[in-house]
Amino acid sequence: MPERARVSSAHISPSAHYTGYVWYRHQLSDPTFVTPFGRFVHRLLWPLSWGARAGFGLDIERLLLQRHLQIDALLRKAIEQDGVCQVVEIACGLSPRGRRFRQRYPHVRYVEADLPAMAARKRLLLREAGWLSLEHQVRSVDILAERGAHGLASLFAELDHRRPLLVITEGLVNYFPLAVVEAFWTRLAEQLRGFAEASYVTDLYPDLREHPRYRQLRWGVELIGRLTRGSYPLHYRDHAEIVAGFQRCGFRQAQVLDPDTDSASLGLEPARAPGLVRVIQARV
Ligand SMILES: C[S@@+](CC[C@H](N)C(=O)[O-])C[C@H]1O[C@@H](n2cnc3c(N)ncnc32)[C@H](O)[C@@H]1O
Repeated sequence: MPERARVSSAHISPSAHYTGYVWYRHQLSDPTFVTPFGRFVHRLLWPLSWGARAGFGLDIERLLLQRHLQIDALLRKAIEQDGVCQVVEIACGLSPRGRRFRQRYPHVRYVEADLPAMAARKRLLLREAGWLSLEHQVRSVDILAERGAHGLASLFAELDHRRPLLVITEGLVNYFPLAVVEAFWTRLAEQLRGFAEASYVTDLYPDLREHPRYRQLRWGVELIGRLTRGSYPLHYRDHAEIVAGFQRCGFRQAQVLDPDTDSASLGLEPARAPGLVRVIQARV
């Protein structure tokens, strides 16, 4: 059976409510993006995240903040220093980033995209808040679609191919087996090559076997998989494998960032244990 046929995304969307609430709790978001379900799940998982932090030193919210703030920092730099004026955020969920960046950089066109149901929800929230405009839109996309209305080609067709573009995914790729992720990245790189200048930023949880908390991490990942009735595979063993993976997919260059090294500039406490998340910036 082809990999595509065995993969489903349906179980993933609820997690966007949880992260949406985490961004709000940490003053990164607006009440507009908070849902009762997000609040409920956060309360439900609180004993678990408290236990992981107290018992194993695994701080789930810190992990989320690291990736979110590191991606923000890269986006700010891309806009201020590299002239990026178009952003596409795939798997936007209930993330406030589009709203925050549109407020700060009104000249930037921001297209948020997600599976149709989540996209419809986000569009409604933005419209009701009066924030939807020609320069801030929400589109339907399915990263598993090879073609058609929800494929990547349709999403990028409406953008200006002569102007610099940055594409973001956050909290998406580790929900899928590596072959599926690399097929998506290959299709993405193909689209990005159609632009005068384009790059891609994503978070990634590598399979860091030498990490002192590796066993607890595997246990946590297994538990999250069971709770969300999906799986959460870890990809690549080290930075060299990550870079090779991106190059295999058609990216010319990939830079792997460890948010631990930027804790101070990201406004986070210094790390107490080596971090688990990486943020990648790849160019075509
Ligand atoms: C963990 S949430 C992350 C949301 C947001 N990026 C954040 O960090 O708060 C994962 C998101 O991926 C979206 N998603 C899942 N499968 C997808 C697919 N095949 N194509 C596009 N988006 C997908 C879900 O709907 C959900 O919004």
